[in-house]
Amino acid sequence: MLKPRVLFDAATLAARVQALGAQITHDYRDVGDLVVVPILKGSFLFASDLIRHIDHPLSVEFLGLRSYGAGTESSGVVQITYDLTTPIMGKDVLIVEDIVDTGLSMQYLFENLATRRPRSVKLCALMQKPARTRVKVDIDYLGFTIDDHFVVGYGLDFDEKYRNLPYIGVIEGG
Ligand code: IMP
Ligand code: MG
Repeated sequence: MLKPRVLFDAATLAARVQALGAQITHDYRDVGDLVVVPILKGSFLFASDLIRHIDHPLSVEFLGLRSYGAGTESSGVVQITYDLTTPIMGKDVLIVEDIVDTGLSMQYLFENLATRRPRSVKLCALMQKPARTRVKVDIDYLGFTIDDHFVVGYGLDFDEKYRNLPYIGVIEGG
């Protein structure tokens, strides 16, 4: 297996995640309990680090999404593979996503969650690839803007591999 080239090392990730947590803590200071929704599988490491920097009462509800596509291309056909286990009606929801690529997954999710009548929905994404945007998605908290590379590590996979890398790397040629 090829060793990916380092794009963001562990220290860079930790510093950015800490800053995002501080910003979220500040912004929700007058709000009640927060429901943090990590999107599986890719955001599980990011979310686990992020919530340790959110100094606010919160609960965690996972949601699994699968975006069908061949190889590294998203088709825009999105499926919920694991759903929230409690209602979010009237709740303040913070979605935690690994990367916004075409935007199709988040567009689908926003529309789906809206039908459940939350009080608010915000999005925190570790990365965004603006070059590949197909639908505009408002990202309230963004870690890094990246060029059009296929990235792996820190929870993100290529064909289910590389999630355990402690850094974000680029597969050369990707
Ligand atoms: P979308 O194209 O914005 O719908 O993104 C769909 C999903 O594809 C993201 O949530 C990621 O899980 C995955 N994805 C997109 N780009 C990458 C990448 O560079 N590396 C790993 N996964 C990616
Ligand atoms: Mg994802």
